[in-house]
Amino acid sequence: MTIKTTPRRRHVHGRTKGGKLSPRKQKLCDELLPKLRVTMPAPENALEPRKLFAPEPAKTWLEIGFGGGEHLAWQAAQNPDIGLIGCEPFVNGVAKLLVAIDEQKLSNVRIHDDDAVDILRALAPASIDRLFILHPDPWPKKRHHKRRFINQHHLDLIAKVLKPGCELRFASDIPHYVAWTLKHMARRTDFIWTARQPKDWRTRPDDWPATRYGQKALREGRPPAHLRFIRK
Ligand SMILES: C[S@@+](CC[C@H](N)C(=O)[O-])C[C@H]1O[C@@H](n2cnc3c(N)ncnc32)[C@H](O)[C@@H]1O
Repeated sequence: MTIKTTPRRRHVHGRTKGGKLSPRKQKLCDELLPKLRVTMPAPENALEPRKLFAPEPAKTWLEIGFGGGEHLAWQAAQNPDIGLIGCEPFVNGVAKLLVAIDEQKLSNVRIHDDDAVDILRALAPASIDRLFILHPDPWPKKRHHKRRFINQHHLDLIAKVLKPGCELRFASDIPHYVAWTLKHMARRTDFIWTARQPKDWRTRPDDWPATRYGQKALREGRPPAHLRFIRK
């Protein structure tokens, strides 16, 4: 598949900074983050994700927009043999994940604290074994729909990096975004939606903990949809 190279453009539209960090979080950002940060290869080279870890794991998973990192830290703790890469440009969210990494002594997490599109572009073809996009920013206004992370260009990049037979997991509590994603996926020949009956997307699997946004949605009476797509 040929991926069109578009001019370098940022795809981060929300805020990237919140309140002042506590001294502990600031220290983790200054000292731990540089050790875990993904180093981007030169443009002519592809990023081989397994090589970011020592020892090299058999599998690597990628989470886009991890927020406070609750889901990422849970997956890392449950799957110590898998290398997890998280992308999140919001500094306070990154700092929160660093606290979990430090407290739980997680050695299998790497961080790209910027736009996920950079890493999708850089990653080697068929190098990721599972990809998560959980409660992406909904951008509810029609004129902002073009900011939504799910679009055909990003799906091309996701299809490039996911290994055949591997899974893209998507969650949203915004019915319009769920329908939007299904509509985008229905146009593709490289993914299959796994659901056969409503309970398949209404029920959250046990190995898929609710994220902070997922829990908030449940409290507020908006049960999330959990969509799973397999790369053909
Ligand atoms: C609504 S929050 C959800 C956070 C988390 N996944 C959860 O469910 O609790 C969406 C997150 O996506 C991040 N985000 C937005 N655009 C992004 C991009 N281009 N690359 C990586 N993360 C992005 C935002 O900073 C934000 O933290």
